[in-house]
Amino acid sequence: MVPVTSCHSTISYRPIRPSDIEILEQIHGDIFPIRYESEFFQDVAHGRGIVSWAAVDHSRDDGKDDEPIGFITARVVLATESEIVDLLRYDSAESGWSLVYILTLGVVDSYRNHGIASSLILEVIKYASSIPSCRAVYLHVISYNFPAIHLYKKMSFKCIQKLPGFYLIAGQHYDSYLFVYFVKGCQSACSPVELVTAIMRYVRSSFQSITAKLWSNQKKIGWMVQM
Ligand code: ACO
Repeated sequence: MVPVTSCHSTISYRPIRPSDIEILEQIHGDIFPIRYESEFFQDVAHGRGIVSWAAVDHSRDDGKDDEPIGFITARVVLATESEIVDLLRYDSAESGWSLVYILTLGVVDSYRNHGIASSLILEVIKYASSIPSCRAVYLHVISYNFPAIHLYKKMSFKCIQKLPGFYLIAGQHYDSYLFVYFVKGCQSACSPVELVTAIMRYVRSSFQSITAKLWSNQKKIGWMVQM
């Protein structure tokens, strides 16, 4: 186990590099119930369509003071190609807006509860805010992950959808929640009429395209290997 004392001021954040692949793969394997393809780690480390930050602890005296002890990975997607397009204001969908989708977030067990994940999320929010076309940061979290759900709520993310059976782990389906953080004053469709319309559109599309939705879920988690 990695020793932790008062690490708060000695943590810094930097992009994930090719030399981090091994430890990154190991931490993902340790903390997620889903295994990721090695292609995912290659894409992260080489910045191929993915932005990332690693948290490192400079106070470590075991020669690993540049080794990631936490990470966040994300990618930019077009609003029109995301599943939350119906939940944004309509002009967002029509004007080439983009979104940042958080793929993975994790902190090594012994470094938790020191604000590291919060800082990593802030890096992503800062990044999203620097993209003129970006309207929101969003992510999926499995419904039983209470620490992460608590964290996203604390960071002002809004839970806007429950997706039944979104994850398939060891042959069993689990629900997920969709959390969104709106940047630059962007809002969800929040007037009463827009809200009702958005809900109706969502309910209608849920009934009409269950098959398409399942296919889409598989595509989104294409980097994951079922266990
Ligand atoms: N000192 C003490 N506690 C602090 C400090 C500080 N300086 N700063 C924040 N905290 C508290 C927070 O307030 C919060 O607790 P609270 O609600 O009681 O206030 C708690 O610490 C958590 O916040 P962080 O410290 O920012 O989060 P942490 O670094 O512990 O990481 C995470 C949280 C990522 C969920 C971690 O538990 C983890 O890696 N879990 C396993 C992987 C996982 O579930 N990842 C998310 C899946 S969803 C996805 O990947 C899209």
